Amino acid sequence: MEYRVTSLTAKQTQEWGNQLGRHLRGGDVVALVGDLGAGKTAFAQGVGDALQVKGPMTSPTFTLRHEYLGKLSGTEVKTRLIHMDLYRLQHPEEVEVIGVEDAFKEDTICLIEWPEIAEDYMPEDRLEVEILGSGESPREIIFHTREREWEQRLKVITTS
Ligand SMILES: Nc1ncnc2c1ncn2[C@@H]1O[C@H](COP(=O)(O)OP(=O)(O)OP(=O)(O)O)[C@@H](O)[C@H]1O
Ligand SMILES: [Mg+2]
Repeated sequence: MEYRVTSLTAKQTQEWGNQLGRHLRGGDVVALVGDLGAGKTAFAQGVGDALQVKGPMTSPTFTLRHEYLGKLSGTEVKTRLIHMDLYRLQHPEEVEVIGVEDAFKEDTICLIEWPEIAEDYMPEDRLEVEILGSGESPREIIFHTREREWEQRLKVITTS
């Protein structure tokens, strides 16, 4: 299944991230797919806002992996938020070195930009968020999933 929404500004992309963030739980893995400058980091920042992360959330393009403490939206339940950007990796084995698997834990919500190189490590039940467009043009944000459980959440997220 896929669910499509539109974003006309960086702020709207953040707001869609915020909407998703409100429905995230420990163990969720979200792959953020899209060209350079599509808005993956903007979307991730919106997720961070929903999880009450003390910012600022900056791009992990050069650092590969940033870790934050947050709370599940509307609760006092603590969660770890890991935000990765694998753009600079050259070989799939490097994925292990930065501890990608350590990020797929029940107490952790994981967002991964440029996830393609880690495909073999990614959990089956991940959510994929694809952002089409770049520059000043409007974006189309497509949520892809095969999981029933995500579909239920996405229906609520994309119709609210
Ligand atoms: N509708 C939109 N949604 C998101 N960003 C937008 C939009 N319109 C313009 N922009 C601009 O596009 C840029 C998106 O940057 P961002 O760092 O989020 O992209 P990215 O996908 O993370 O890129 P990278 O692959 O380099 O990490 C920002 O400068 C933002 O202001
Ligand atoms: Mg980015």
